[in-house]
Amino acid sequence: MTVPALELADVSCTFVSRDAPGQRYTAVAGVSLSLQPGEFVSVVGPTGCGKSTLLNMAAGLLAPSSGQVRVFGQPLAGLNARAGYMFQAESLMRGRTALANVAAGLEFRGVADAREQAQDWLRRVGLAAFADRYPHQLSGGMRKRTSLAQTLAIDPDIILMDEPFSALDVQTRQLMENEVLELWARRRKAVLFITHDLDEAIAMSDRVVVLSAGPASHPIGEFAIDLPRPRDVAEVRMTPRFVELHHAIWSVLRDEVLQGYAQQLGRA
Ligand SMILES: Nc1ncnc2c1ncn2[C@@H]1O[C@H](COP(=O)(O)OP(=O)(O)O)[C@@H](O)[C@H]1O
Ligand SMILES: [Mg+2]
Repeated sequence: MTVPALELADVSCTFVSRDAPGQRYTAVAGVSLSLQPGEFVSVVGPTGCGKSTLLNMAAGLLAPSSGQVRVFGQPLAGLNARAGYMFQAESLMRGRTALANVAAGLEFRGVADAREQAQDWLRRVGLAAFADRYPHQLSGGMRKRTSLAQTLAIDPDIILMDEPFSALDVQTRQLMENEVLELWARRRKAVLFITHDLDEAIAMSDRVVVLSAGPASHPIGEFAIDLPRPRDVAEVRMTPRFVELHHAIWSVLRDEVLQGYAQQLGRA
């Protein structure tokens, strides 16, 4: 068997409240999840269940309270250098052009032709003509494309994405999802994709993992997505197999979403 690209081995994460240090909240507990090289895995679950917490542990931004993260078989200590991340929030540097933003990561790694490579990545995401624009001169979709180029330019073996397209309108979002799938198909990296959108998870992935509502969130279902590739995310949604998978996964997810929603109201 091949060594997994990424492995969460029985990880838990307990937060200590900043305001009341005696108070603890266990967001996720006993989570085991592994990604094979080249595999596209989505994690879905209700808002606040611990999806970002899991991703942050995989990125090495957050150390698990117990359990271990392994990257190509090696225990992770500090930042995950084999991974590239793309988060929900805007992450571009405002004072830099699109080109300079994409080149930054390459320059940091000491790549000699960083600007040429950055230009090439902008071309691949359809932004060749926008290299000199600053983030505020780009649309939301274009900024996301720039972030995508930035993430892929460093050629990571693992790509970690946390609800990257949730701020986009539906049409732009579907275009970007298709682009991600196309780019991924060419260079098959392991992708851990976090979303609260089940349609998106099914359309994109090889496998969908469902998390329970918190506290102590953990996987309660795992579904292989056997839809043929290449996929068009808008079209695949209308196929009978997609509807069937959606039905099966939603039957597991629904109660968690309701429970998560009730908790949010309770805490507000
Ligand atoms: N740094 C933190 N300190 C305290 N609690 C946190 C911290 N980060 C997240 N949490 C809590 O952990 C739970 C999971 O958060 P998160 O992983 O962001 O959920 P999701 O991404 O699924 O919406 C939430 O209840 C959140 O309030
Ligand atoms: Mg989140």
